[in-house]
Amino acid sequence: MLFRNHYGVDLGSSSVKVYSAFRNKTYIEKNMVAYRERKILSMGNDAYEMFEKAPADVTVNSPMAFGMIANLELQEIVLYSMMRKIDHTTGLGADMYFAVPLDMTAIEKRAYYHLVNGHWLRKNRVFMVESPIADAIAMNVNLEKEEGSMIVNIGAQSTEFSIITEGKIIISRKIPIGGRQMNESICSEIRKQYNLQIGTRTAKRLKLVMGRLNDQKKEARKVVGIDSVSGLPREEVVSASVVNEGITNCVNQIASEMKTFLERTPPQIAYHIAKEGIYLTGGSTRLPYLDNYLASYTGFAFNLSDLYETSAVRGLEKIIRDRELRKWAQPVKQKKL
Ligand SMILES: Nc1ncnc2c1ncn2[C@@H]1O[C@H](COP(=O)(O)OP(=O)(O)OP(=O)(O)O)[C@@H](O)[C@H]1O
Ligand SMILES: [Mg+2]
Repeated sequence: MLFRNHYGVDLGSSSVKVYSAFRNKTYIEKNMVAYRERKILSMGNDAYEMFEKAPADVTVNSPMAFGMIANLELQEIVLYSMMRKIDHTTGLGADMYFAVPLDMTAIEKRAYYHLVNGHWLRKNRVFMVESPIADAIAMNVNLEKEEGSMIVNIGAQSTEFSIITEGKIIISRKIPIGGRQMNESICSEIRKQYNLQIGTRTAKRLKLVMGRLNDQKKEARKVVGIDSVSGLPREEVVSASVVNEGITNCVNQIASEMKTFLERTPPQIAYHIAKEGIYLTGGSTRLPYLDNYLASYTGFAFNLSDLYETSAVRGLEKIIRDRELRKWAQPVKQKKL
């Protein structure tokens, strides 16, 4: 029986995932805040609704950038408002398990501590689990074997490659490319091919309905954008092949970084990874046929997780529910910082 409430929290640049042990359930909300000067207008999914539609004096953005906390105060507000919605909590006295990036500086670690020991969230205990470890636990990877496993997470603003042997991450690399860069790449392809400027939200919609990395279906969608020459709004029918050209440009960068990463991996480890397959997760791996595409680019086999964006928070859930797994969480105390 758990007396204190336990939460698992994965702060992503695109969404916050929170597991509540009390409810035994995971909640996902957009990691966005809309504000005018110092006044908060909306948060989470409501703020995302305003994204790219808000008037000029309203700022809408994410408190996380490239997988790091960029605005502590706003991030605390988003997390607190989510926890209030879930458990009607006061924000006091819980155990908070965070999936965190590797190689954080002392200042970045301190940010996680202060996030839940600040204005609204107080007196909470903090535990950190390295994200790739949380992903691996969720995907049932045996962390303690000596041969080595490779985990790849393709998120919204970052892609991370990690190799784990004997319970440690021995090599890792994070690149600032993810789903958002795919959206931007779609925008620039459409600008090139149609002389039309569209917003990244429209690009994302095109990605979700037509994005796929194999033989194209002959599809097209109508969009409205701004004509690059006249500056006037214009309608255009955008074909799937243009959208996928944009996506492919971005995926090729990820694939080529992955290939270089694998080439630098010690041969005995690479040999085992080739046999076992690379574990693939993160929201952007929902892109149809991405695993096949990466497999033919790199020559390695892939195990695609069906957890996608929720894998890290699922790992935290397992750690919270199973005492045996608690060793993967490091407590963070204020005096140590
Ligand atoms: N069906 C889909 N096809 C392609 N991309 C998708 C699909 N569904 C979601 N995505 C993308 O997944 C990304 C969100 O993934 P995820 O939640 O793992 O990112 P995050 O954890 O918030 O970001 P990061 O880890 O980079 O900070 C978004 O960019 C979104 O566009
Ligand atoms: Mg993530």
